[in-house]
Amino acid sequence: MPANTGLDIRPLAPADRAAWEPLWKAYLDFYDHVLPPAVTDLTWSRFSDPAEPMGALGAWSDGALAGVCHHVLHRSTWAAGTYCYLEDLFTTPGSRGRGVGRALIEATAAAAREAGAEKLYWQTHSGNTTARALYDRVARHEGFVVYERPLT
Ligand SMILES: CC(C)(COP(=O)(O)OP(=O)(O)OC[C@H]1O[C@@H](n2cnc3c(N)ncnc32)[C@H](O)[C@@H]1OP(=O)(O)O)[C@@H](O)C(=O)NCCC(=O)NCCS
Repeated sequence: MPANTGLDIRPLAPADRAAWEPLWKAYLDFYDHVLPPAVTDLTWSRFSDPAEPMGALGAWSDGALAGVCHHVLHRSTWAAGTYCYLEDLFTTPGSRGRGVGRALIEATAAAAREAGAEKLYWQTHSGNTTARALYDRVARHEGFVVYERPLT
């Protein structure tokens, strides 16, 4: 794929599911994670539900889906407006290093701004040097550390 030429970034539509699902599966594999199919079904349906504060952008190159980026808008105790959490970013191995990931982050930022969000933020594993090489170019690492406590 040539560097970022002809990249078409747009919200994923219900008809895009067959193109999206292999990338979603590869992303979950990357995290060694298995999701019940019902959760994938629900997540997919939420992307196209205007009542849900979630969205998915796809980057298309020559008719093929080269990458996806999912986000969630939410309230904040620190803002009158919303914040936008970029939850998932994945580009296909064959399209990496050509600006697809960067373009998806920029498009998500634009969509979040348009939706009234005051901030876009995301997290990654400290050892994900590839992702961090990109993130260090487009955002600031503020030094926060993420903790998790499963509740189920
Ligand atoms: C992380 C990921 C999304 C990056 O996507 P990408 O399409 O390759 O990213 P880009 O091509 O837009 O890279 C943007 C910048 O990062 C740099 N970069 C990308 N991969 C790099 C690498 N392996 N080493 C060094 N720099 C790299 C590029 O040089 C580019 O810099 P530039 O625009 O100033 O030239 C992709 O590698 C991926 O899907 N990885 C597996 C899943 C994952 O880790 N997702 C993120 C989880 S938080």
